[in-house]
Amino acid sequence: MVHLRCHTMYILGGTSASNVATNLAITLKQPLMHTTYKRFPDDEFYVRLLDDIAGQDVVIVQTAYPDQKIVELFLIQDAVLDAGAKKIIVIIPYFGYSRQDKKFEDGEATSARVIAQHISSNADCVITVDPHKEHILNFFSVPAYSCSAVVSLARYLKEKHVDFVLAPDKGARQRAKEAASFINCDYDYLEKTRINGTNVKITPKKLNARGKHVAIIDDIISTGGTMANSIKELKKQGAKTVLVACTHGLFVDGAKEKLLSADCDELISTDTIETEFSKVSVADTIAQTLQTITDI
Ligand code: R5P
Repeated sequence: MVHLRCHTMYILGGTSASNVATNLAITLKQPLMHTTYKRFPDDEFYVRLLDDIAGQDVVIVQTAYPDQKIVELFLIQDAVLDAGAKKIIVIIPYFGYSRQDKKFEDGEATSARVIAQHISSNADCVITVDPHKEHILNFFSVPAYSCSAVVSLARYLKEKHVDFVLAPDKGARQRAKEAASFINCDYDYLEKTRINGTNVKITPKKLNARGKHVAIIDDIISTGGTMANSIKELKKQGAKTVLVACTHGLFVDGAKEKLLSADCDELISTDTIETEFSKVSVADTIAQTLQTITDI
């Protein structure tokens, strides 16, 4: 545990998490830093800090996805260190590369470890939201913490009168259980087999979903294949409405169209990746975790 004592904690939003940074500054009643960001004609990134932060604690908020945003984070960290910050806390709302958390085949890189090591070199501690696997926190060489968006998502789903929660695979079972317990309804999970990067197979299973307002909850929606298959299964089994909720909405490879044509009634994600579906903010859960390791 890192104990940080400060009167002021500057919040510095990178270009991939400006909404989270603004909400965090409001929640914590701390100043949002002024910066200049631009790209050179060859697309290289430029950062300049406009506030004097010497001797102050700084919270950098930047989603590490896609690749360009990871480079931005490294440059921002360097600028903050060089400006004489006392402590550097890095908040990574979505930690890219987290799904390559081990070598699945000989000769592969453990991508999550590579990114974590580089971030650690200019940080005193790190917080990330709903990492794909908790063990990736061990890849950081500084104290690293995770927080969860599940309760914030569940609060939204409860207002939508959801009365059944489904995990699309075993990995998401705990999230579904937690969301269902907040909503006070039943939950279940499906068994998924991944065929390749875009195709998955769901093992048929009888679900108690007839006439229900169902929410499927997962950490990541990437190509939407996992969710699309689960929606079809639920509708086949008589679910009245199916809402799809995730923490990290990547929505690549035509995911939005795939989900809508699978008859999804609403798509919900948080703002770890800012999209038109970012209806729930992770600022509160990050603020709570920050408060447990600082005295703000
Ligand atoms: C994998 O285990 C994750 O929790 C998600 O289920 C997966 O990343 C979703 O990918 P896609 O949207 O491409 O099916």
